[in-house]
Order: sequence, then C-alpha cells, then structure tokens
Amino acid sequence: EDAMKKLAAGNWKMNGNRAALAEVSALLSAHPAPGCEILLCPPTTLLAEMAGLATGSALLVGGQDCHAKGSGAHTGDISAAMLADAGASHVILGHSERRADHGERNELVRAKAEAAIAAGLIAVVCLGETEAERDAGETLAVIGAQLDGSVPAAATGSQLVIAYEPVWAIGTGRTPTIAQIAEVHAFLRARLTAHIGAEAGKTRLLYGGSVKPSNATEIFAVPDVDGALVGGASLKAADFGAIVAAL
Ligand code: G3P
Repeated sequence: EDAMKKLAAGNWKMNGNRAALAEVSALLSAHPAPGCEILLCPPTTLLAEMAGLATGSALLVGGQDCHAKGSGAHTGDISAAMLADAGASHVILGHSERRADHGERNELVRAKAEAAIAAGLIAVVCLGETEAERDAGETLAVIGAQLDGSVPAAATGSQLVIAYEPVWAIGTGRTPTIAQIAEVHAFLRARLTAHIGAEAGKTRLLYGGSVKPSNATEIFAVPDVDGALVGGASLKAADFGAIVAAL
C-alpha cells in the first residue's frame, strides 16, 4: 500500500556543494524505480537545484529546518513556504544537532512543525535520548516527553514522520540492539496513537543513527520501523543506493 511504502531519507547536514549533485544523478540512474520512497534533505543552497534533478523521478527533497513564522524580519531564516516553493515536500525538525547547537526546545519544534504542515510540507520530527539518559533507564520517558511536546496535536498521520535518533548513535558507528530499536518504535507508535488515534498507523517511524548498507537489512526488518534517516551514508550514491535497495 502506497501510504506505507518505506522511506529512505538522507540528511546531508552541512555537507555538499553543487558538485555533490552528481551523487544524486548517480543515485537516480542506479535506482530508477525503487520499491521505497526516497527523500534527500540537502543544505538549503542546493534545494532548488536538487528538486529540479528530482522532477519526474522517485526522489523527494526536503529542508533541514524552517522558521515557525511565515515571513518577516528574521535574518538568516527560511520559512516553510519558501522550502515548498523551492520544491521541498518534507522538512526535518528538531534534529538533536539543532536542539544542541541552537537550543531548540520541544515547544519551538512543535511550532515549526505546525508551520510546516500549514505550508503543505510533511514534518519529519526527530527525537532521541542521550547516552546518559539511556544509561539511567530514562529512554522511554525522555522520548515520550519529546513526542508529547514536539508533535502537533492536530496533524493527520501522513503529515508527520517521526525519526528516532539516539544521540549517542549519530555519526559514531554505534547502534542500539535490534531489541532496543523494537522497544522504542513500538512505544512511539502507541504514544502517537494516544495523540492522533488510528491516524498514527499512517505515520512513518524512521530509525536514524549510523545506518549503513551493512546494518540496513536487519534494522528495516524490525516491526514499526518504516524506514531510516541516514546521515553520513546518504552523501554517496553507492552507500545510499545500497540502503535504498535494502528497503
Ligand atoms: O539525521 C540523520 C543522522 O543524525 C544520522 O547520522 O551519520 O549517524 O547516519 P549518521
């Protein structure tokens, strides 16, 4: 069923200049008809040009952040409507790097997600525990509070994607066990159901943190894992293509 095709999402973070778009062309020619949806979220400087490359293909493009307001005196910021105008269908919000680097808190993430949905974008809301929180046995309490605080109350299931990214697994080569991923994803589905009811069945729950070709297959087999949010391995067509092929 189309609504729950899995989603292979790539977050380029602050990486990539125009020359890197060659990787996108390579990805599209190697995987012209993938069995999953593919999303790449490049730096904003590359968004419109990547969207042009994606026209007529299976590739969707997205932003990595947006402002909670629609327009105005906010130097350096980008609105959700601007992302949509540049060709975006999605926007990543509340990534742990923005929570850490820019002090973004749940309330702001939720306001941004509401703005994104109002502009017709799908909000990819990120959450995840730190290593200290996991060691203290607080994982479910932390991500439950993040979900409660960051997810708009009035969303439909398909207007949202939730990405579970344990902070300690990002860029480290370390991942939770399969049982730990399964526990968190089942918890997230139930918690989201408490917010938006049966619509939660239409929300893709992505795992993120050191996903690579060698671990993608076993992670994607976990119940309630509807895809991945990939950082480093999304930068190269060969690696990201192998992850796409695993979905
Ligand atoms: O948003 C994706 C990201 O945080 C995971 O990064 O490099 O561990 O795949 P990476």
